[in-house]
Amino acid sequence: MYRSALIENIAPLRRFPVKIFMLLLSVWASLAFSATRTPVYSSKGLVASISPLASEVGAEVLRKGGTAADAAVAVAFALSVTWPSAGNIGGGGFALVHPITGPDSFIDYRETAPAAAGPDFYLDEKGELKGDESKIGYRAAGIPGTVAGLVLLHKKWGKLPWASLVEPARKLAAEGFIVDAGLSESLTRSAAHLSAYPETAKIFLNKGKAWQRGDRLVQKDLATTLTAIQKRGADGFYKGQVANLLVQDMKKKQGVLSHEDLLNFKAVEREPLHKKWKEFEIVTAPPPSSGGTILLEILGMMQGDKLEAMGSGSAEYLHLLIECTKKAFADRSVWFGDPAFVQNPIAKLLDPAYLAKRRAEIGDKAAHDISPGELLGEKPDTTHFTVRDSRGMVISNTYTLNGSYGSGVVVKGTGFILNNEMDDFTSKLGESNMFGLQQGKRNQIAPGKRPLSSMSPTFVYQGKDIVLALGAPGGPTIINSVTQTIINRLIFRMDIQGAADAPRFHHQWAPDKIVWEPFGITHDTRKILEAKGHIFADEPRNFGDIEALAYDAENQRWTGASDSRNGGAVVPE
Ligand code: DON
Repeated sequence: MYRSALIENIAPLRRFPVKIFMLLLSVWASLAFSATRTPVYSSKGLVASISPLASEVGAEVLRKGGTAADAAVAVAFALSVTWPSAGNIGGGGFALVHPITGPDSFIDYRETAPAAAGPDFYLDEKGELKGDESKIGYRAAGIPGTVAGLVLLHKKWGKLPWASLVEPARKLAAEGFIVDAGLSESLTRSAAHLSAYPETAKIFLNKGKAWQRGDRLVQKDLATTLTAIQKRGADGFYKGQVANLLVQDMKKKQGVLSHEDLLNFKAVEREPLHKKWKEFEIVTAPPPSSGGTILLEILGMMQGDKLEAMGSGSAEYLHLLIECTKKAFADRSVWFGDPAFVQNPIAKLLDPAYLAKRRAEIGDKAAHDISPGELLGEKPDTTHFTVRDSRGMVISNTYTLNGSYGSGVVVKGTGFILNNEMDDFTSKLGESNMFGLQQGKRNQIAPGKRPLSSMSPTFVYQGKDIVLALGAPGGPTIINSVTQTIINRLIFRMDIQGAADAPRFHHQWAPDKIVWEPFGITHDTRKILEAKGHIFADEPRNFGDIEALAYDAENQRWTGASDSRNGGAVVPE
């Protein structure tokens, strides 16, 4: 079933060489949760994403001479069709860019709060949360940023015509594509959420039930919206028919998103965070993501530790990793917010003296009373893809609707799902959000403000060269998926597929529990950690989806890995 679906999906896109086709099939055929499969090698470009169809779209752009930015634009639009739980034009995200010449850059196209929203937006007269308004329905949506972000990416580093990059996605939406196991499982898991709004149900459910593998999913309205974007760029989304449909429906359904909100949205170019770690340099996401800072804090606390000697999966390593993670996440709960509105004390959080002090507090037992650090002078779906072109431009992009299928709302006639990113704000002080994250005052809602994120597109350099480019979905688990994959690859020296597939651990300070993966820890190691006082979640669960590219110095080739936990693929140019 898998294979025939793949053949049907890919054939119309391009008659590509049999060798590549067989390679793709072999990746596809080994989806069982194996310890590790061989990474995909290439002497040219590579695209890693959770959707084989979208990866193929990106690889085809590279074959036509497009840059990594061109390919990233095409992949992002394709994912909005083939991976609708997170691939989007109704959400937002971040792209980390290595442009070959000039410094690395960070395109922030995170959604913003509507002008009508403030700190009390989700509170009733008594100051209590009004149900699930920040998570479901029209009022959960921030102003979508994806189209503006992709336009900026293309303007700065693209080469091929814009319309040609939107075309594969438009075609996939108009002609449909064959639903694979991953999409059918995802739709099945979210069937109740998708049935809440008739327009959404009409597209993503088949007579009330999830589309099954082998079905053809056609998205006519989405094709129309993509055509408008193809013809008019950002204006095709933020102005005209799409904007009119959005605003009119919002008015009818107590939503607040307005024409001014859409017109005011701007993607922002920022300087990424840079930090030396051991013999590497890490380049990663600045605020409004907390992700880069937190992963640098976790790694920074372990700066002097001989992790390789401890060994991957050892109780000694896991104890240290989890304690550092808890401390860094405690800081996340207070110190961060949109840098246009609040100050983020990054330098202080990453000060070697501060990190050494935090490290020194870690003893042999699990701590249960960790507070956010005292700074001197200071009081559930996303998707990631990574692209490299043969000239060396690299893009690591994470974007999202927030929860799977976002707010659940598709405005009639538009065909795309609106995000529920507003839930990433502090809706009420003291209450945790859908990821169980405690968040602070700096992250309260204000008009035009961007909610705090954990998304962490990241590069690692050795000397002058990038040796690893990666990212993941999973809310706060993103930070741990990325951190642990960096350590697995660069310290434990796993190949990139092994590094992506190795069992991971998540702790986010509150709740005080280690999230672990099925068969991810031996009984003996768990006993040692429990004796130290660590608390494990009752049930294991898989999390994350690493989509990464890494340089294999031994073979002098770039390699790619799509996480074996899911059905994605790396496709070479
Ligand atoms: O920006 C964030 O941190 C979240 N909105 C990301 C959500 C997410 O990764 C859900 N994915 N599975």
